Amino acid sequence: DTKIIKVDDLYNPDISYACEVLKSGGLVAFPTETVYGLGATATNPEAVKKIFQVKGRPADNPLIVHVSSVDEIENIAYLSEKYIDIIKKVTPGPITFVLKKKENIPSEVTAGLETVGVRIPAHPVAQKLINCSGPIAAPSANRSGKPSPTDANAVIEDLNGLVECIIDAGECAFGIESTIVDLTKDFPVVLRPGPITLEELTQLFGVVEFYQLKEGEKPLAPGMKYRHYAPEKHLELVDQSALLEYQNTDVLILCTKETKERLIPNAKNVYIIGELSKPYTIAQNLYRSFRDIDKTNYKYAVIEKLPEYGIFFSIMNRIKKAVSKK
Ligand code: TXA
Ligand code: MG
Repeated sequence: DTKIIKVDDLYNPDISYACEVLKSGGLVAFPTETVYGLGATATNPEAVKKIFQVKGRPADNPLIVHVSSVDEIENIAYLSEKYIDIIKKVTPGPITFVLKKKENIPSEVTAGLETVGVRIPAHPVAQKLINCSGPIAAPSANRSGKPSPTDANAVIEDLNGLVECIIDAGECAFGIESTIVDLTKDFPVVLRPGPITLEELTQLFGVVEFYQLKEGEKPLAPGMKYRHYAPEKHLELVDQSALLEYQNTDVLILCTKETKERLIPNAKNVYIIGELSKPYTIAQNLYRSFRDIDKTNYKYAVIEKLPEYGIFFSIMNRIKKAVSKK
């Protein structure tokens, strides 16, 4: 049976049960400011293996280790002096660093790699849980192939009965997964765009490279090769102007509030994904909208093409993965 702990006071949560579950080798789904994570104690290989079983996750896809401070990073990975001040500026927060791992991180966590992804989440419940249990290895708390869960209902949909405990602390603030930056190369390489934008990273690091997977090449982030985040129904990316063709059909239109009001104010078959003028609202709603498509009777869905700068670039990265048919 899965125990669901509802947190009302984010700054004073009673999560001692969840902490005990982790310490005894069990799995806990917990909130972060990006998406919900499915956690096990990072230094317990048997517990970590269960994550792969429960998610149906390919064994070659490594997990991120969550710690509560920069000092703790150095217990599990090698951190170059030159990056410490920058990391202190952006953490805790929605960003993951790939670093050379130390001995105490088992190969089950890193899928055999010599590097480890490390993140310091800002969410107060995640912070408290890590402080109680120690470093937590956690991928997103969805079944493999499904969109990452951004609220506890989505976690329950995927994992109820499969894990010991789910902590429900409401909706995640960002709604898309952390930015991943590989710091083991000559200069920082962005493996996954996210809430911390490429523009912000360039400000912080001076120069960064954005890594794009090429046909037939082995990906730097093993997870990149899998289809992700996708609804089960067909989803198509269309230009704003093309949305007109779909109004009042059996196709669901996912678009921004502004676009609906300007182009298709009378259409009934519309699902608002957020506001163009507040792009972080789109990130926050995106995965819920993907899950909701599958709960409707519409034949399939189309989604509005967005710009590709700042946070929009990260949002479009997720949308393109959801529409691709690989
Ligand atoms: O926001 C997030 O990052 C969420 C929350 C729970 O922290 N976690 C998350 O984990 O999105 P996951 O497992 O769904 O995605 C982790 C990605 C995968 O694509 C994986 O291949 C990559 O990070 N990754 C992990 N360790 C890596 C490493 N050592 N080198 C390269 N890529 C790595
Ligand atoms: Mg994931």
